[in-house]
Amino acid sequence: MAKVSLPASIIKDPSLAPEGQRKIRWVEQHAAVLNTLFKKFLSDGTLRDVPIGVCIPLEAKTAYLTLLLHRAGARVALAGTAPGYVQDDVAAAVAAEGVAVFAVADASPAEFQAHLERVVDIEPALLVDDRAELTRALHTTHKHLLKNVWGGSEQTTSGVTKLRNMERQGILAFPMIAGNDALSKHLFDNRYGTGQSVFAALLALTNLYLGGKTVVIAGYGWCGKGLARRAAALNARVVVCEVDPVRALEAYADGFAVLPLAQAAELGDFFITSTGTRDVFRPEHFERMKDGAMLANAGGVDEEIDVPGLARLAPGRREVRRHIEEYRLRDGRRLYLLCQGRLVNIAGGDGHPVEIMDLSFAVQALAIYHIARNRGKLEPRLHRLPLEIDREICRTKLETLGLALDSLTPAQEEFLRQWQ
Ligand SMILES: NC(=O)c1ccc[n+]([C@@H]2O[C@H](COP(=O)([O-])OP(=O)(O)OC[C@H]3O[C@@H](n4cnc5c(N)ncnc54)[C@H](O)[C@@H]3O)[C@@H](O)[C@H]2O)c1
Repeated sequence: MAKVSLPASIIKDPSLAPEGQRKIRWVEQHAAVLNTLFKKFLSDGTLRDVPIGVCIPLEAKTAYLTLLLHRAGARVALAGTAPGYVQDDVAAAVAAEGVAVFAVADASPAEFQAHLERVVDIEPALLVDDRAELTRALHTTHKHLLKNVWGGSEQTTSGVTKLRNMERQGILAFPMIAGNDALSKHLFDNRYGTGQSVFAALLALTNLYLGGKTVVIAGYGWCGKGLARRAAALNARVVVCEVDPVRALEAYADGFAVLPLAQAAELGDFFITSTGTRDVFRPEHFERMKDGAMLANAGGVDEEIDVPGLARLAPGRREVRRHIEEYRLRDGRRLYLLCQGRLVNIAGGDGHPVEIMDLSFAVQALAIYHIARNRGKLEPRLHRLPLEIDREICRTKLETLGLALDSLTPAQEEFLRQWQ
């Protein structure tokens, strides 16, 4: 492995580091799973001197994951994901520890692309990716580096969709672990993490009361389920819109109203999308919405709300509160867009709870550790995290909570082995 030295960081202001460090220390105190797995596996020398490229929304929790890889001896370069998902004080704190950081909160899309390029420049052997940004950059503009890559892990549902398409077209050149498909990720992060953090952000940003209001949720996947459950717990009425009959039936069986969006558009006070596709809320829906309706995106695609389509309908637009823009339609109705249509819980809040991300990042960390230990043995395709690793993560979490399991008796094990 040729050693390419780490380039100098590009961050907003190094003097912000102390505040970033304070935020990261809080995470460290609550990341019991990662801390245990670091001692047990990550610090055993497997990652020493390995160049690791990281692309993530940069806040204290993702920063802590990155620092653990750095403390495991890896040479880490990090790009914050697309503009709007970076905290400058956290970026300064990570850079101060010796990670090469390319992340600025108000970076333009072009600057973000330049930041990704700097990470690719270190010729990474392992990737911790989000929305498959690094993986796609390597497969398009840096094909000569593909041979250096042992593999990586992908955090998001949207990224996994892109990787699946690359695999289907036969172009994925190295093994990637679909972090999102791990049980210890989506069962907790997508469901409970999104449920809590989206409403925490929504309520803090709007300072409104949810009880009795109608919340329309597009997408009843793991995120949608968590959102619906949380909205109901906050005394809202919930309407679910789906394109998949199984998911729609699940929503119905869980006790929620199920309607096509064209009808739900007239009912909602809050509209939240978490589908992983574009243009879910679009002009034909905006035309029907009530005066005062709020629009928020909780999905992994920034275009889930057709913001240009909304702007075309609304001659007047102004910021009425931090992260809330009022779009005044021609007939005088006002629609409120949160965080310009970006992920409301990350762009407008603190993201998922620390203890939830502790599990998600345990998946990411052990996924690349697994690839490093099995270097050259895994096929260049999308892999699931091996079930024993998933179980190890959950077992570790239970142990940190002081919770014990039962075990099968020998007679039960024998019974389960028989077919007669
Ligand atoms: N906000 C966050 O912090 C956060 C956390 C985890 C995942 N995500 C993102 O949220 C999105 C959803 O994740 P998930 O795990 O629930 O995925 P999922 O695949 O389990 O569910 C998505 C659901 O959306 C439905 N859907 C697709 N297009 C639709 C449309 N036009 N109208 C209505 N429903 C539609 C699908 O049928 C599916 O049931 C992904 O993009 C993911 O990356 C966000």
